[in-house]
Amino acid sequence: MAAVTQWLASAAADRDRAGLVRRTDSARNPQTRPHLLDLASNDYLGLADDPRLKAAATDAVARYGTGARASRVVTGTTAAHDDLEHALTTLTGRPACLAFSSGYTANIGLLTALGDPDTLIVSDAHVHASLIDGARLSRSPVAICPHSDLDALDALLRTRTQRRALVVVESVYSVLGDAADLPRIAALCDSRDALLVVDEAHGVGVRGDGRGAVHAAGLAGAEHVVVTATLSKALGAQGGAVLGSPLLREHLVTTARTFVFDTALAPAAAAAAAAACRIVAAEPERVAALHEAAATIAGAAGVDVAPGAVQSIPIGAPDVALAAATTLHERGVVVGCFRPPSVPDGISRLRLTARATVDLGRAASAAALAARLALAPVGVDA
Ligand SMILES: Cc1ncc(COP(=O)(O)O)c(C=O)c1O
Repeated sequence: MAAVTQWLASAAADRDRAGLVRRTDSARNPQTRPHLLDLASNDYLGLADDPRLKAAATDAVARYGTGARASRVVTGTTAAHDDLEHALTTLTGRPACLAFSSGYTANIGLLTALGDPDTLIVSDAHVHASLIDGARLSRSPVAICPHSDLDALDALLRTRTQRRALVVVESVYSVLGDAADLPRIAALCDSRDALLVVDEAHGVGVRGDGRGAVHAAGLAGAEHVVVTATLSKALGAQGGAVLGSPLLREHLVTTARTFVFDTALAPAAAAAAAAACRIVAAEPERVAALHEAAATIAGAAGVDVAPGAVQSIPIGAPDVALAAATTLHERGVVVGCFRPPSVPDGISRLRLTARATVDLGRAASAAALAARLALAPVGVDA
């Protein structure tokens, strides 16, 4: 057996023993298995199935074809990209926007374009892998701040030796579902002359009438705040964006490697996301329905309702979490099963996501069952 094959086999066996195997299983897709209750996807407003998004995407395919064919800085920019960037700035109130092919590439592109040895990146301990990777690739010194600890953040900024500093947080954290205290963090960054990067992957379409937590905190026009977003969760499409000043946009167009050296976002995805932005602004009742679903799920599961769509039920051991998720699947419910390395505190959990269009009665029964399985995973009487 070749050395690499041996190594792969032994790593697979280790994962199996630790309950950390992940699968790409199309049988878990609620879109093609309509009997399944979807409490796992990130389609928070139910827009991925909206006829208006589908029509926008179809029109874009008819007009531009199925792919963008080149990077945005070669021939890949279309009127659909211009329209998307305009729609995102209108929704969030931010001065300028640059669309990327995913939220992951937006985060990496931003941090690598802003980082250098004279810029300290202070990263909250719970941020997403894309922000961790961006910080690592940026050539900046990186300090990990204990989760949402403002005193520790202040100390790191106050005692830095680098001229510039960049603080990285999420508005709504993707695994635990808790929110950052943006007004206080932004004020602290302002007083310490640091740039605040807020990943609104779980905030846009969810917080502040759908305009995001930064807008809700009155920070939409703040010069020292930059927002990143994904188009693939509440906006029901695919892609990512950075929202900041026109000067930052111009800097990224030339220096963000994941923008310059990446094929442009597919025009169909751009058109669908632009349609979603307009729907979010026009239909705040969707956001209200999402929060009602979140409260229903949390209440039935017996956990405190989290500020976004993600409701988290801590379990502890990865194999117990996996067994609970498997039992739920057998009973027609798909939930997220988050285990190391996807859990920042090392505690495996079931992650139930609310959706504006979910059946509240079914969601409540499923959440109650999930909570019972978390307490007594073997032989639960459902
Ligand atoms: C907080 C956060 N940032 C970034 C991303 C990446 O976004 P995308 O899926 O568009 O690459 C995700 C999605 O998984 C996320 O949860």
